[in-house]
Formats: sequence, C-alpha cells, structure tokens
Amino acid sequence: METSPLESPYAKPTRLRPAMTTTEPLLELTDVAKVYLTETVETRALREVHFAVKRGEWVAIVGPSGSGKSTLLSILGLLDTPTQGSYRLAGVSTEGLTGRERARLRNRSIGFIFQTFNLIGELTVEDNVGLPLGYRGMSAGERKERVREALASVDMSHRLEHYPAQLSGGQQQRVAVARAIVGKPELLLADEPTGNLDSANGAAVMDLLAKLHDDGSTVCMVTHDTSFAKRATRLTSVFDGRVVEDRSQL
Ligand SMILES: Nc1ncnc2c1ncn2[C@@H]1O[C@H](COP(=O)(O)OP(=O)(O)OP(=O)(O)O)[C@@H](O)[C@H]1O
Ligand SMILES: [Mg+2]
Repeated sequence: METSPLESPYAKPTRLRPAMTTTEPLLELTDVAKVYLTETVETRALREVHFAVKRGEWVAIVGPSGSGKSTLLSILGLLDTPTQGSYRLAGVSTEGLTGRERARLRNRSIGFIFQTFNLIGELTVEDNVGLPLGYRGMSAGERKERVREALASVDMSHRLEHYPAQLSGGQQQRVAVARAIVGKPELLLADEPTGNLDSANGAAVMDLLAKLHDDGSTVCMVTHDTSFAKRATRLTSVFDGRVVEDRSQL
C-alpha cells in the first residue's frame, strides 16, 4: 500500500495517537495575521483568522477583490508565511519547519491550480505534468505511468507532445489539474481556477474538482462564481482580511 504523503516523515506522532488523527483537522490556522510591508505602506491582508478544514471538505472561499483570499491560499499552500499566528498542517506545526521541509511537504501534500494555469511554455504537456514528480526518486517508468494516468483522468491523453501555447485555455487548465493531482496530494488549492475560462470550460474544470472531492481529496477553492461556490460543501466568506462568515452547505 502506498503511504500517504502526509505520513512521512511526520508519521511518528500520528501513529502514537491514532484516535486523534481522525478528528484532527487537516489544516488549522489560529489567530493568523498577514501584514505586507513596503517602503511607504503597511497592508493588513489578513487579521485574526481562525480557520480549520477537515479531511474531505470542499471549501469555497469568496469575497471582494483585495479581501485576502489569495493571501489565505498562499499561506495554506506554504507559499507564504503568516506574520502572526500559527498554521498546523496534518498535525504538523509549520512554523518549526526548515525551508527544505516546507518545500517537501508542499511538493508531496499539496496540489495547486491557478487562474492563469502557470504551465511552463518550454515544456510539453507530458513534461509539465511530470514536474512535481521530479524530486521523488521515482523510476522513469513509474513516472511516465503516473503522468499518463493523471492526463487520462482529465481527458488530455491525446495531447502529450503538445506545448501549452498549442492548447485552448480549457485544455491548459485541464493539464494544470493533471499536474496538481499527479503526486496524489491530500490537499488541493485552487485560486479562481475558472477565472480565465468560458462557462463551458469552467464547468468542466468544476466537474473535475467535484470528482476529485468525491474521490477523497480535500479542496479549498477561491471563486467569484456563485454557482460554482454553491457546489462546495462549505462556504467561507472573507472581507477586509477577516473570515466574516463560514457555513456548511451540506
Ligand atoms: N506581495 C504583496 N505586497 C504588498 N501587498 C500585497 C501583496 N500581496 C497582496 N497584497 C495586498 O493584500 C491585500 C489582499 O490581497 P489578495 O491578493 O489576498 O486579495 P484577493 O482577495 O485575492 O483579491 P482578488 O479577488 O483581486 O484576487 C490587498 O490589499 C493587496 O494589495
Ligand atoms: Mg486573488
């Protein structure tokens, strides 16, 4: 059986306390603030954020432009650090991690999907999707197998040798979803994944997220689209850097 990415190398405390792992949130922010400082201004992007997500939830994060949604997602994705407060991911206090440990945890446990796809133009579809597997000491054969499996799941197997510029926006985002899931991460973070897509392609990407959620992934997604937000199991509203509303949609 494959070990869950979050079980290694942080497996010991989890195994010593098996009863707690089922109830412990996958991620938990406690009193988090984020202040950006530039030479002339101080921007409070997040303040007093308490936010916990259980395994298997699908959270839609909504709020006006500038309210702190992307900042929140960057912190959850270990791309940025809070100025204040704590962030626990799968029971691991992330403040204590070295840069290398953070990168490893991010690579193994978190898949990202961005509004602008963020594929690498110089790499083929196959190589783009294989990127997250690059640091894992996987054999070339296994890597290829995983990439093909991920591309098949987004219905893009027929474009392995294409470059991103040779694909439509919807196809690029499907490839980006394949890249996000190729490492079988426990947590998927999506920042306006349908923001650059027409409604049909947006709906197709949302169907993929729904399927990943059904298959057991935990999903946090920022969206401006109320009909997509309704599909999530929970709706979290952010305003002026604070979580102002948080409710189940089950
Ligand atoms: N690197 C940065 N340096 C300085 N200020 C920043 C930085 N990143 C974000 N901010 C500020 O933090 C606040 C929150 O930004 P954030 O990108 O999280 O908003 P958002 O809710 O994602 O908005 P949008 O819906 O437009 O994407 C904004 O006022 C923004 O100007
Ligand atoms: Mg944003």
